Amino acid sequence: MTHKKKLAIITLGCQMNRHDSEWLAGALADEYEYTENETQADFLVVNTCAVRDKAEAKFFSLMGRLRPLKHQNKNLVVGVAGCIAQERGEALVRREPIIDLVFGTRAVHKVPSMLKQFEETGRPQVDTSSESAFDEFPMRRESSISAWVAIMRGCNNACSYCIVPQTRGPEESRPVESILNEVRNLAEKGYKEITLLGQNVNSYGMNLSPRATFPELLRRIHAVCGDMRIRFVTSHPKDMSDELISAMAELPGICPSMHLPIQSGSDRILSLMNRNYTAAHYFDRVEKLKAKVPDLSITTDIIVGFPGEAESDFEQTVQAVLQARYDNIYLFKYSPRPGTEAEKLMDRVDPVVAQTRFDRILVMQKRITKERFKEMTGRDSELLVEGPSKRDPARYCGRNPQNMMVNFGSDKDLTGRFVHVKITGSGQHSLEGKLAG
Ligand code: 5AD
Ligand code: SF4
Repeated sequence: MTHKKKLAIITLGCQMNRHDSEWLAGALADEYEYTENETQADFLVVNTCAVRDKAEAKFFSLMGRLRPLKHQNKNLVVGVAGCIAQERGEALVRREPIIDLVFGTRAVHKVPSMLKQFEETGRPQVDTSSESAFDEFPMRRESSISAWVAIMRGCNNACSYCIVPQTRGPEESRPVESILNEVRNLAEKGYKEITLLGQNVNSYGMNLSPRATFPELLRRIHAVCGDMRIRFVTSHPKDMSDELISAMAELPGICPSMHLPIQSGSDRILSLMNRNYTAAHYFDRVEKLKAKVPDLSITTDIIVGFPGEAESDFEQTVQAVLQARYDNIYLFKYSPRPGTEAEKLMDRVDPVVAQTRFDRILVMQKRITKERFKEMTGRDSELLVEGPSKRDPARYCGRNPQNMMVNFGSDKDLTGRFVHVKITGSGQHSLEGKLAG
């Protein structure tokens, strides 16, 4: 038997990126064995994120750290994938001589042939083409319990701060049958949870012929998914239909958990962000969801310090956080991105002011999360067990349908099983539970 070469992938950024890394490892599985240890790799890929300047800075400092590896092992091939690869393409090879391969967000399945080309010619290979890339590609998945399923790629919105429409290209929905095949396959393999991924899942199917909608897709997935839980990210408030709310209310397999980015509570800022909804519309959707879906958990994304954000605009974001009582928020300071509309806005917020606003919301949200956790105490909950807890192997952790982490004691390994617990207490980031029965 010949020895397989070794592949390592360092993944930065969002869930879609982590899923793309599964796609890459799957595409190379015939020739490469996966290793967590980057110093042993024959092919080392960095899957990059460009969403904020911090993510980009992280990549460039990582490149500096990887330079010695290339000097130690002349045969090491270094690849760059993801959003920075798509954004900068060829320029990366000129800037950073250790890079051999650059492939964009839709070229992952072409990497095996790019590698061959590189080995034959010794010349760096770059592919940032934006052709369609949907198929039932083999995946090398991170988990054998919970799986990501990409239902669309790219984004047709034009949020003025966001680089993603440039890096992931125009929106493309994956055909329904192809998604259903993958879901059936995961159910057969014993998976217990799927998370449907798309930049804006609410607009799924608009460009398919015949047209499909996201709520219809959910109903069809629900019909074939067996006992698997269904989650999805990300929803856009402007496209959140009554049909989706009904589907969530009616289908027991869909988790009562909704990630609904508000970004700002001020209509003036929302308009500058080109979000195409008002705070009133957002809360109309939230109230309807809460009324129809029992025990719903809502999380959000917020940007503070967007150009032109006055104290009065910020106060409206504070009010929105108080009103929504999110279980969790992902909070960001605005970061200008090259080529976006917002980058041209002159009225930048002083970084010290932005930091003060950031800190104020963070403190508020910590309190709300704590209160939300307290409200769960005494309740019964079904968990999907993820594995032993990192700190104490006699304890296990799992997630409730609301996606909160719950720790509990067990003398049996219950990894990958559904269990019932009573919630007995809470910490800063997770709940405590006791096995029922
Ligand atoms: N600056 C700060 N935050 C951003 N996000 C996207 N672009 C930017 C930016 N330029 C945030 C948004 C989005 C999340 C994924 O990242 O809140 O919902
Ligand atoms: Fe994901 Fe956006 Fe970062 Fe690309 S830029 S990796 S889509 S978060």
